[in-house]
Amino acid sequence: MTKSGDPNEILLLEAAEREKLWQELARQIESYISGIRELPASADPSPDAVRALLAGVDFSRPMPAAEAVRFAAESLARTQVHTPHPRYYGLFNPTPATMGIAGDALVAAFNPQLAVWKHNPFAVEVEQHLIRSFGALFGYDETLADGTFTSGGSEANHTALLAALSHAFPEMEKAGLRGLEAQPVFYVSAESHHSFHKAARLCGLGNVAVREIPVDGMLRMNPASLVSSIRTDRRHRLAPFLVVGTAGTTNAGAIDPLAEIAEIAAQEKIWFHADAAWGGAAAILPELRPLLAGIERADSITLDAHKWLCAPNGAGMFLTRHPEILGRTFHISAAYVPPKAEGARIVDPYEHSIHWSRRFIGLKLFLSLLVAGWEGYAAVLRNMTAMGDVLRRELEVAGWEVVAPAPLPIACFQDSRTPKGRSAEYLEAVARRVVSSGDAWISTTRVRGDITVLRACITSYRTNADDIRTLINALEDARRALKVTSAGAANG
Ligand SMILES: Cc1ncc(COP(=O)(O)O)c(C=O)c1O
Repeated sequence: MTKSGDPNEILLLEAAEREKLWQELARQIESYISGIRELPASADPSPDAVRALLAGVDFSRPMPAAEAVRFAAESLARTQVHTPHPRYYGLFNPTPATMGIAGDALVAAFNPQLAVWKHNPFAVEVEQHLIRSFGALFGYDETLADGTFTSGGSEANHTALLAALSHAFPEMEKAGLRGLEAQPVFYVSAESHHSFHKAARLCGLGNVAVREIPVDGMLRMNPASLVSSIRTDRRHRLAPFLVVGTAGTTNAGAIDPLAEIAEIAAQEKIWFHADAAWGGAAAILPELRPLLAGIERADSITLDAHKWLCAPNGAGMFLTRHPEILGRTFHISAAYVPPKAEGARIVDPYEHSIHWSRRFIGLKLFLSLLVAGWEGYAAVLRNMTAMGDVLRRELEVAGWEVVAPAPLPIACFQDSRTPKGRSAEYLEAVARRVVSSGDAWISTTRVRGDITVLRACITSYRTNADDIRTLINALEDARRALKVTSAGAANG
């Protein structure tokens, strides 16, 4: 019970305790941001060590608020892979923009309900404004650009599948897949993100409906194979309905030939979706924009704000140049929903997406853009791209061979100084040693299905040339421990 004995204050907390809480919260956030370089890039604790932190937790003995926040912050700091760390070179989890952190805090406090426009017109209009702005950036007609914020790229890709199905098979709304004369199939590259397989399962299509098109030497979809796969499927009386081009593959940052895919999609009369979850941000940077040529012809686009736009998790976007498609895919009516507001272009988000109740996802991106502006973002992306060049150059100098170099700031690499430098066992051992040193966080992946590579991606706008040097040194230490000398002889 609270000091005043008022049960309302059990959750609200008394004013004096709230005051202490906010101070502690701000202190914890600021000390994490300003002290992160002193932390190892990854804590890498054992499961027992993590569970030991919770061993003393007892809900029958409530804790003071500031102490609870301190406990959570310190436990996170002691246990997590520090994705906001300048030497976290992992999957694209960014250092969150500070304005994004502020945005998420505001959203938690105001708790806007983004089901209907009337409940939160400002929030809905902010998201629509962002959707139109990013649509225009990709080359859509701003007056037609539509879309929805999502929890992330997976949900945006799932939305794309649903929209493409609803476009190709309007009868599905009533009859479902079982009502279709021909079974739908769709096309992704062999390097595409696995969320499409998940989405295929969620849509009831199953993995059997996903065609993985082979890639070229630079890990980009091969357009000739795409055409022949579509033709073969048509001959077998299947129903091609969608092709996905990826702008920035998860493994290696490859960008599929979007313009060629757009042309094939138009000729074959199938939906073209661009999964630009990571690489889409390149549209902000004039010198990188040409990499995305053809994206303006995509029927829909996935863009993750929580990747290269540096919003805190989770913030994705589904964009489309077909303003009617989301309504057609998700419309529904329910008696308990407040009546629609009167006016032009009123969107009730619940009729436009998978969600009913949902968070105001767009605010964190909106506030970051308000403060940094397009120019500020361009400067950040330019710096990160330059760091990608430094990374690839330093790796080559140190005797690491960069495989299928991409225009985005990432390197997949193998060791050219030892005959075992391409073996999965060796490369995985190198990654483990780098991670356990605490100096940097990198990983391995497989490209083309079975070629193991080390993978390092510039995910933090705070990464500088010294951080890259530290990574190179950690790699060299791993080599030495695995008995590869810098002269090129492999001793172990
Ligand atoms: C190209 C691509 N698409 C989609 C996704 C899925 O995005 P999310 O993790 O936000 O669901 C990812 C995630 O890494 C990705 O790299």
